[in-house]
Amino acid sequence: MTVVDQLRAQRMLRVIWPDGTQANFPFIWLRDNCPSAWHPETQERMQDLLAIPADLSAHDVSVEGDCVTVAWEDDGHRSRFSLDWLAQHAPGRPLPDPAEIAAKPWRGDIARQDLPTGDAASLLADDGALAHWLAETRAWGISLVDGLADDPQAGMAVARRIGFLRETNFGTVFEVKSKPNPNNLAYTAVALPLHTDLPNQELPPGYQFLHCLANEAVGGGSVFADGYAIAEDLRRNAPDAFDLLSTIPIPFRFHDGDVDIRRRHEVITLDDGGAVTEICWNAHLADVFDMPAETLAAYYRAYRAFMAATRDPAYAVEFALRPGEMVVFDNRRVLHGRAAFDPATGHRHLQGFYVDRGEFDSRLRVLAQTAGS
Ligand code: OGA
Ligand code: ZN
Repeated sequence: MTVVDQLRAQRMLRVIWPDGTQANFPFIWLRDNCPSAWHPETQERMQDLLAIPADLSAHDVSVEGDCVTVAWEDDGHRSRFSLDWLAQHAPGRPLPDPAEIAAKPWRGDIARQDLPTGDAASLLADDGALAHWLAETRAWGISLVDGLADDPQAGMAVARRIGFLRETNFGTVFEVKSKPNPNNLAYTAVALPLHTDLPNQELPPGYQFLHCLANEAVGGGSVFADGYAIAEDLRRNAPDAFDLLSTIPIPFRFHDGDVDIRRRHEVITLDDGGAVTEICWNAHLADVFDMPAETLAAYYRAYRAFMAATRDPAYAVEFALRPGEMVVFDNRRVLHGRAAFDPATGHRHLQGFYVDRGEFDSRLRVLAQTAGS
């Protein structure tokens, strides 16, 4: 039997479940999260916290079946909670999140056929296939889509199954081909060393999509590396470099005739628990380092150590995209690049667009909910 009692002095409710687990629920938390606090349709909180006394007390607590009812002394309001809901929301541990899928680091010993791959028609038609591919893409930070129609809209249709596209100063869709008057090295035929796109943006774009429409030129192979794996190896082998790269922000900047977009950021971002959550790496967009002179020499050593890793074949997976294929990767984790190509030998055309991490994770949660219901 579930036991519920008041810890009056601490203004808390204690619940002990039949399996012995127990949790304490402060009265203010219970009243703030009363089921009546939420709008029945929008599911947003309507309750005004300041309308509740900070030190409210319970006048009566009773358990009926699977629910506990608390009658509040101050205004006579009654709050009825399901015991299951209380067990799921016990204070002190975060609610499980279906989008929190552990990153699976990878290095250069894998090949294109090891990457998770989704079939375009299935991703468009089947929520289960979409959920599976999204979860794999979240874990690996990279995947392929094949079987796309020979249509510039086909890759975008898959991306829009996830969410809306992220617009940047290069547009919502960017055409990656060699063109006159380029404002970006991607729009030339030169090699692009491994990088992440747009670390100069206040929020660098999340998932990047490169849909291959043509790849007939000599050269132009794609290269990818897992920035999380590079960072973890650096943490182990060069801890001083790792510390500098994860604590000192550097300036990033893109500017042309229309825009001047700048942001300062660390190369390696860590969460509160020390896990790597983001990589910003773009030697072309790194602006003039402006840290104190005493720090510069050590910082350059650390920065060069990361750069050397990006050139180390131990991390790189290389393959040529084929028309009808699309590569999808977390641009805030996975570095991408390409070999130079010779536009005189044939046409190379990729179409690029982004969907941010927030939209990607939201789709994972919604699909998990519909699969579970
Ligand atoms: C880009 C880019 C890679 C390629 O457009 O951001 O890096 O293969 N392109 O052309
Ligand atoms: Zn790029």
